[in-house]
Amino acid sequence: MPAIVVSGDGKGDFGGKVTFHVIICAIVAATGGLMFGYDIGISGGVTSMDDFLEKFFPEVFEKKHHAVENNYCKFDNQFLQLFTSSLYLAALVASFAASKICSKYGRKITMQLASVLFLIGVLLNALAPNLALLIVGRILLGIGIGFANQAAPLFLSEIAPVKYRGALNILFQLNVTIGILAANIINYFVADIHPHGWRIALGTAGIPALILCLGSFLITETPTSLIERQRLTEGMNTLKKIRGIDNVDAEYQELVRASEMARQVKHPFRNLIKRKSRPQLVIAIAMQVFQQFTGINAIMFYAPVLFQTVGFKNDASLMSSAIVGGINVASTVVSVVLVDKLGRKPLLLEACIQMFITQTAIGYILMEHLKTTGDLPKSNAVWVVVLVCLYVMSFAWSWGPLGWLIPSETFPLETRTAGYSFAVSSNMLFTFLIAQAFLSMLCTMRAVVFFFFAAWVFVMCLFVVFLLPETKNIPIDEMMDRVWKKHWFWKRFMDDDDDKRASKVEMAMGH
Ligand code: BGC
Repeated sequence: MPAIVVSGDGKGDFGGKVTFHVIICAIVAATGGLMFGYDIGISGGVTSMDDFLEKFFPEVFEKKHHAVENNYCKFDNQFLQLFTSSLYLAALVASFAASKICSKYGRKITMQLASVLFLIGVLLNALAPNLALLIVGRILLGIGIGFANQAAPLFLSEIAPVKYRGALNILFQLNVTIGILAANIINYFVADIHPHGWRIALGTAGIPALILCLGSFLITETPTSLIERQRLTEGMNTLKKIRGIDNVDAEYQELVRASEMARQVKHPFRNLIKRKSRPQLVIAIAMQVFQQFTGINAIMFYAPVLFQTVGFKNDASLMSSAIVGGINVASTVVSVVLVDKLGRKPLLLEACIQMFITQTAIGYILMEHLKTTGDLPKSNAVWVVVLVCLYVMSFAWSWGPLGWLIPSETFPLETRTAGYSFAVSSNMLFTFLIAQAFLSMLCTMRAVVFFFFAAWVFVMCLFVVFLLPETKNIPIDEMMDRVWKKHWFWKRFMDDDDDKRASKVEMAMGH
């Protein structure tokens, strides 16, 4: 018999409130998302600024100002794309190191390291005299982001009471979107400051990192991480503090059980390759890969470039991307409110439909009306902006936040940080690939690039219907028994190993 430890009320609720302390912890940890988002939003604007292009990418500058130019290809330059995407390669590698630090030393210290590395990167970027230092700065930013994206979502999922786990975790994504919006607005205002506007834009990234760095002194480590590292009394006290109640026995026992199981696993990465880890691993990687194949970053990085392509002038295009940024934030709030009520799957499915329709429509308008040279007629250009907004809206309440939430809540403790690092690195890898490829894809595939992403959205829809289990309101450490062992497809991957280990732990704990 599997040893099932059922949560407090047997339905997944251990009790406990959203205390002031949890709110502070959540706000601070979520600023990791601000750093990430600011960076996503700033690149597109900076790479469309003339001063920046003239200094670092003179060829692109020349091409951009060439009288008659191919609409779809004017920004296609591998080095320019490398500026945007180098950060993601660094983050990819860093997330594996971050996973080790996260398990061994805790989530909090990983976030502190993230903010410090990021700050150094910001300094290098803002003061960069040449392309080499600019890229070194971006690599440091990337390492900071790899660390923060590994630790912050896990931290949020672990401190949250189960009923509010979705909402609290999505604070991370909400901050990502606020970061993107802030970057869009700053881009808009500094575009006219010559010749160093871009330095202000890149330097302002230091603000969220400073908030995270200073704020991290106010937060506690997660009880899960303390218990995992055998600091049991501290773990128990922290649990009482963040839940605001004295009786936390049920949740505490559950965490101790999970950590005992985890301690029997000496090599989490090796364990991840085992058959019974496959469901969580596949889901975590797929959520992130699919998130990127929505094509969102084609919009996020290159919105100003894209809007210039369809005929807006520099200012108008930066303004339109700021509007897109605002819609991104507002729609993420919708997700915070709905995710623990409606569940994860309905949000993802609705979004697939909305994204499919809008992408196909954008592709159609560009194909019909945007010729190789000349602008898109004004009314069509406005339609493109409206459709982009509707598209971003649906991404923002679904694949955006859930791409981070679902992988953070599906792994058992013994493979959690290792497994999650695969989610983070898949995100970074595919963000890199799309950032690197999009301008070239636009140049060669032209409007068809939007149909390409729409086709992926269709595949994602099938994936959600058939393979993604619903994880709403299930305590993280009960996922194994209540989700994976019951799923029509994934249950075949669950063997008895786990049950044997669980019974041993139960016996050792005297149950
Ligand atoms: C994604 C980013 C994306 C952002 C947009 C995040 O969840 O990981 O790649 O740019 O959402 O809001």
